[in-house]
Amino acid sequence: MNTVLIIGAKSDIAHALAHAYAGNHSRLMLAARNVQELHNVASDLRIRYRVEVSLHELDITDTASHESFYAALNPKPHGVIVASGYMCTQQEAQQSLEQTLQSIHVNFTGAVCLLNIIANDFDIRQSGFIVGISSVAGERGRASNYIYGAAKAGFTAYLSGLRNRLYKSNVHVMTVKPGFVRTKMTAGLNLPEKLTATPHEVAKDILNAQQKGVDVLYSKWIWRYIMLAIIHIPESLFKKMRL
Ligand SMILES: NC(=O)c1ccc[n+]([C@@H]2O[C@H](COP(=O)([O-])OP(=O)(O)OC[C@H]3O[C@@H](n4cnc5c(N)ncnc54)[C@H](OP(=O)(O)O)[C@@H]3O)[C@@H](O)[C@H]2O)c1
Repeated sequence: MNTVLIIGAKSDIAHALAHAYAGNHSRLMLAARNVQELHNVASDLRIRYRVEVSLHELDITDTASHESFYAALNPKPHGVIVASGYMCTQQEAQQSLEQTLQSIHVNFTGAVCLLNIIANDFDIRQSGFIVGISSVAGERGRASNYIYGAAKAGFTAYLSGLRNRLYKSNVHVMTVKPGFVRTKMTAGLNLPEKLTATPHEVAKDILNAQQKGVDVLYSKWIWRYIMLAIIHIPESLFKKMRL
């Protein structure tokens, strides 16, 4: 039975992923801050799918704890999915050093430092998969969300390099770029219905694509073409747009 480690397990997308992977007979390791809040979720998953589920305390920004966090996992996971993320408003990020750093540390620095440790282990074992949930926001900086977007752009570049490095070691690295998803992160935002996915749809896309060995997944698929158009707008025009 495969063991899948889900980082940021209290996220709505992660919750849907836990159901998808447990339904696919994977044993789950759920890692989150205040992980005791996931006791009921874990019990539900065990009863519903008859799989083992363990809970692990992790703050992704606490990089000093990453080595001991991973060392304590027994058995070592076959795959890892990074679903943790942080998005404040652009205004908050612009005005507050604390908010800027939190955005960079959750979305980029923390994820990179933890994945370095896991990637080295998978490299030695010559097997495994790594799924990183980045964002279409990382494709081009926009006035309305460029601090979060810049952190996600860094994470996307990191995953691309990791995929390139680990290809020869039989380790599959997949970058996920969701567009709009209806979750806690986007609560209160006025999202266009047709372009907005549910966490369940994103989780289904991720499981399916990970099993097929896809490198870069857009969810919903239409975002691949939306972003293709957006990245080709000339900078001289783009800077005048309100996006
Ligand atoms: N929703 C969208 O439209 C959208 C679009 C593109 C990409 N994404 C990405 O998709 C991923 C999942 O997000 P979501 O939409 O499911 O949002 P969500 O429900 O708000 O989940 C975000 C999760 O990240 C966790 N987190 C934040 N800081 C953390 C830390 N220091 N250590 C550990 N965990 C931490 C939060 O944990 P707590 O519960 O402890 O706060 C929360 O459970 C994120 O990477 C997000 O950036 C989302």
